[in-house]
Amino acid sequence: MHALAIFGITGRMGQSLLHALHDTPAFRLSGAIASAASGRLGRDAAGEGPPTGVLITADSGLGLQGASVAVDFSLGTCVTAHARVCAAAGVPILIGATGFDAASRDVLQQVARDIPVLIAPNTSVGVSAVAKLVSLAAAGLGPSYDVEISEAHHRMKRDAPSGTALALGEAVAQARGVALQEVAIYDRTGLSGPRKPGSIGFSVLRAGDIVGEHTVTFAAAGERVEITHRATDRITFARGALRAAEWLVGRPAGLYGMQNVLGL
Ligand SMILES: NC(=O)c1ccc[n+]([C@@H]2O[C@H](COP(=O)([O-])OP(=O)(O)OC[C@H]3O[C@@H](n4cnc5c(N)ncnc54)[C@H](OP(=O)(O)O)[C@@H]3O)[C@@H](O)[C@H]2O)c1
Repeated sequence: MHALAIFGITGRMGQSLLHALHDTPAFRLSGAIASAASGRLGRDAAGEGPPTGVLITADSGLGLQGASVAVDFSLGTCVTAHARVCAAAGVPILIGATGFDAASRDVLQQVARDIPVLIAPNTSVGVSAVAKLVSLAAAGLGPSYDVEISEAHHRMKRDAPSGTALALGEAVAQARGVALQEVAIYDRTGLSGPRKPGSIGFSVLRAGDIVGEHTVTFAAAGERVEITHRATDRITFARGALRAAEWLVGRPAGLYGMQNVLGL
């Protein structure tokens, strides 16, 4: 049985992972980490239901003790610090948190020289399949099709567009042989004028308790192709994260994505 440490244990995803652990015999919880400002430090990792026997700590080194693998569902601003502690402890890490910048990604790439690092802005198996479909559609339809990516999430989500929307944009850009940052349009406020050919537009909706929805639209004169994924329960991200974490145990150091886990 593998020992699992969770960064971001008190959050929506942290608690969802605990639920998913109930029917995942491959894992037991070994560490539960929250911020130094958390109101739940020293309490049991389970916010409700049967206790886990693991107490919440803000000390990452302590939380990683005995862990075979760590998953990080905290904040994008914390992922590099967490990855460095994992490297020092020799523990592989799955980065599920989103909203980190390019400089943080560079740090993760460096850390991946020492330990396995899996960056997974969306751990649902369905979204990974959708990313593959988007890539195929982008390559097959060609650059004359306008591409727009829309996403919807709950009112508490911090980053926009979502990490998944950006990853889907990357999939289109890669298939077209262009850099996403050169073609992405995030704002059309005001007199934005006609659509720039080759651009990839993003739009964002934040409302209620929406778990996560993404649509990639390919449109040309006379037709429109839409590829949509709708997550209806966070448990899908949690189950996918545990599947990926299990895959990560024992891998050589390196940078991985969900496509490696699923063989896509
Ligand atoms: N990969 C995926 O499939 C997927 C799916 C859903 C969400 N996400 C991403 O996962 C992240 C978490 O989402 P969520 O909805 O669970 O957010 P959330 O409910 O706000 O939870 C965030 C958690 O991070 C903890 N935290 C904050 N600072 C920390 C630090 N310095 N060290 C350790 N823990 C810290 C918070 O703990 P305290 O406040 O108690 O300190 C809380 O437990 C977001 O980036 C989100 O975009 C990814």
